[in-house]
Amino acid sequence: MDVRVSTRDVQQFDGDAVAVGVFSDDTELQGPAAALDEAMAGVLTRLRASGEITGAASEVTLLHTLGKIEPERVAVIGLGRRDRFTAEVVRRAAAIACRALRKAGAKRVGLALAWAESGVNLAQAARAATEGALLGLYSFSRYKSAKTGDNTASSASGASGANGKTKEIESITILGRGREPVLRSAVERGLILAESTNFARDLGNEPPNVLTPTELAERARRMAAEVGLNCEVYGPDWMREQGMGALLGVAQGSAEEPRFIVLEYRGGHAEEPGPAFVGKGITFDSGGISIKPAEGMQAMKMDMCGAAAVIGAMRAIALLKPAINVTGIVPTTENMVGGKAYRPGDILRASNGKTIEIVNTDAEGRLILADALSYAVKQHYAPLVDAATLTGAMVVALGHVRAGIFSNDETVQRAVISASEIAGERLWPMPMDPEYEEQIQSEVADVRQTGGRPAGSITAAKIISRFVDDQPWAHLDIAGVNDRSSKNAESDAGATGFGVRTFVELATLLAERNGGK
Ligand code: BES
Ligand code: ZN
Ligand code: ZN
Repeated sequence: MDVRVSTRDVQQFDGDAVAVGVFSDDTELQGPAAALDEAMAGVLTRLRASGEITGAASEVTLLHTLGKIEPERVAVIGLGRRDRFTAEVVRRAAAIACRALRKAGAKRVGLALAWAESGVNLAQAARAATEGALLGLYSFSRYKSAKTGDNTASSASGASGANGKTKEIESITILGRGREPVLRSAVERGLILAESTNFARDLGNEPPNVLTPTELAERARRMAAEVGLNCEVYGPDWMREQGMGALLGVAQGSAEEPRFIVLEYRGGHAEEPGPAFVGKGITFDSGGISIKPAEGMQAMKMDMCGAAAVIGAMRAIALLKPAINVTGIVPTTENMVGGKAYRPGDILRASNGKTIEIVNTDAEGRLILADALSYAVKQHYAPLVDAATLTGAMVVALGHVRAGIFSNDETVQRAVISASEIAGERLWPMPMDPEYEEQIQSEVADVRQTGGRPAGSITAAKIISRFVDDQPWAHLDIAGVNDRSSKNAESDAGATGFGVRTFVELATLLAERNGGK
């Protein structure tokens, strides 16, 4: 996708479609919408007066310009109330506009959605418009054969027209009022963030027969070579040397070998370890001996979305180059039911020496995180932040809107939440009272693997916390937000890439707090 910037007026844009926004509570059209209205003999004002355009959030009105201006089409996007305008509104508007215009057959699209407005500055708006466009247009179609008679075989967008020709937008121009260098660098940042998020979405959407632990490591390695990151990939022998009995325990039921991936970005002082981002990489979670019900089990190909978020974030960090050292850590394995599979009743020893009493082999995520976090502690990384599709209970608690954040440290928790707000990914703080630990006491080992049904997400976080020592740590339970079950006006169904942008903004924030190099 070709993304450009222009500070020209909207009516001078020379592509084939342009999108503008309208607020619901403005009595008169403003900004680019007003300029377009004037160029088009007041048609927007008419539609507004007749109530066909209300400006309600997510409203789309497509108009033909009949030669009044260069672009053939205009998309008028509702932005909702002016006092509720945020970068997220811009992101959504851009996504909706691009999807609607792609469907209409537009190739060269201008987005006049990037202008400074109540609390959103030009850079934020431009960045959000870029992100919205690229995230909205993303599709995963690698495994769809081209339709008969369609020899364009390129990644079909799911937007094939009646004539069988694939409809794809070729270029996006972010039209903004203001200084061009500001616009350009904001768009560049948005582009890196969106492409890295889409990279993570690809990993999540790949089928589990293709994206095995070995293949996940291979993709991380390839990406690392492309953007200039160090990448180490370790196998079972190394894990045995490290004493990673929890990760190996989960892996032993699978015919696929586990991998331990370490991605290293060096932008800070040589002697400073910097933060580590850790992602759960279960490439398929059958539940193991405590097998899951058949219905919906296919969704468990996405049980590596924490890993995808970390790998995607490391890509963006390598390209954005914040002045800090960052390490991405991914323990990856399948959770299967082979003859050597671990069982309820087993006791596993993690690499920090602590023993875990297994009660349900479907609670495998915390086990592989136990070894990954123990490793991160040994390497003195701080803070530690993990992302994991960890518990069904998280979906029950917060649904598909927010991810839960659990932490042992107020400062880190606040930093991660700030980062998520900049990123446009929503988190909600969950309690970590000491009383919850009673549920994970074991009679036979140092800790019980699960705490039963009550507060299942919290007890899971409590178990992980036993493996971070006293290092400042935050855990994001992204079960529920990692995957969209159906497509909508804004996005296709499938992996969302949740977490990529929060990790990147966190690295940026921590670099700023460090005062740079
Ligand atoms: N990967 C699942 C959690 C999950 C569930 C993610 C639904 C996304 C959607 C995890 O490994 C799991 O199965 N957890 C169990 C834990 C229980 C056995 C303590 C769960 O949540 O049921
Ligand atoms: Zn599981
Ligand atoms: Zn799982």
